[in-house]
Amino acid sequence: MKNYLAPLFVFCVALLVYAKQKQGDNFTSNNGTVGSKDDHFDFMVFTQQWPEAFRMQTGPEVSIPKNVTGWTIHGVWPSQTKKEAPNFCNNTWHFNESVIHDLMPQLSLYWPNLLKTNNLWDHEWTKHGTCAAPLPALHGEHNYFATGLRLNAKYNITEMLATNNITPSADKAYAYKDVEGAIRKNVNNMSFVMQCYYDKKAKKQYISQVMLCLDKQFGLLECDKYLSEGDLCWTTETIQYPPFQYGYN
Ligand SMILES: *[C@@H]1O[C@H](CO)[C@@H](O)[C@H](O)[C@H]1NC(C)=O
Ligand SMILES: *[C@@H]1O[C@H](CO)[C@@H](O)[C@H](O)[C@H]1NC(C)=O
Ligand SMILES: *[C@@H]1O[C@H](CO)[C@@H](O)[C@H](O)[C@H]1NC(C)=O
Ligand SMILES: *[C@@H]1O[C@H](CO)[C@@H](O)[C@H](O)[C@H]1NC(C)=O
Ligand SMILES: *[C@@H]1O[C@H](CO)[C@@H](O)[C@H](O)[C@H]1NC(C)=O
Ligand SMILES: *[C@@H]1O[C@H](CO)[C@@H](O)[C@H](O)[C@H]1NC(C)=O
Ligand SMILES: *[C@@H]1O[C@H](CO)[C@@H](O)[C@H](O)[C@H]1NC(C)=O
Repeated sequence: MKNYLAPLFVFCVALLVYAKQKQGDNFTSNNGTVGSKDDHFDFMVFTQQWPEAFRMQTGPEVSIPKNVTGWTIHGVWPSQTKKEAPNFCNNTWHFNESVIHDLMPQLSLYWPNLLKTNNLWDHEWTKHGTCAAPLPALHGEHNYFATGLRLNAKYNITEMLATNNITPSADKAYAYKDVEGAIRKNVNNMSFVMQCYYDKKAKKQYISQVMLCLDKQFGLLECDKYLSEGDLCWTTETIQYPPFQYGYN
């Protein structure tokens, strides 16, 4: 699960510190296959999220800015087949917000930081962006974030759903096959991952993330051959697409 839940993030940081201490120079000098850490990647996961489901799942530390109205980017993740790797590939390449200054208006709308307690851009860059460097289109902060924005415009989940009459609603429930079908026909019928947040009390599932799998030329791949993910939506139950409750800015 790649949700950037705060506790998981803290855990990852702890793990990173531990791994760094344990591996000494191997970790810092890693540039591909050095030492025991294998940073190659086979494909990319492009993950978009439905902010309201993230808010419901995560709690009051999430605040959705009023100018955010649709699906937003979680990240572009260079990945190894059926593994949650590589991560944190270059710990000397620090996130520097000035480098992406010109992208800020777009990032604020389509790749917003929803957590008050974390900097999503810093996190995505450090954990995933640094691993994407071998690919020219993703090399460096500016390319990494600009490409994420391009992918979000190309694979516009908000629009895919809306053109199939699937719009946010507090009470409507949508059939799994309608939601899945609306996306699938826009991704060349390729398999993809659809995650839901399941509210045990309400016994309802809320669509939370969509992951597309891309090759290194950014062509679509069959996700089920490359990715094993949890939190999948139940195919047998209806899906909620909850409207945003905006936080205070
Ligand atoms: C790199 O890692 C290997 C195996 O974990 C270890 O034996 C070696 O001493 C490490 N090298 C450095 C420079 O830390
Ligand atoms: C990684 O770095 C080592 C030593 O600096 C270098 O010999 C090697 O060619 C590099 N490998 C890649 C894939 O860049
Ligand atoms: C690692 O980061 C440095 C900047 O700190 C950069 O110059 C270098 O090219 C990066 N190495 C790789 C393999 O991406
Ligand atoms: C951050 O990026 C800006 C613009 O490219 C550059 O002028 C500045 O030196 C960078 N800061 C650091 C700490 O690298
Ligand atoms: C959207 O709202 C946020 C938070 O209020 C603000 O920082 C950002 O500049 C706004 N974006 C645009 C494009 O107006
Ligand atoms: C995605 O589609 C929605 C609805 O048509 C639109 O408002 C939004 O601007 C689009 N996003 C991008 C990045 O173009
Ligand atoms: C997707 O599959 C359906 C049913 O198998 C088929 O009717 C449709 O033409 C396909 N669409 C694309 C874009 O391949």
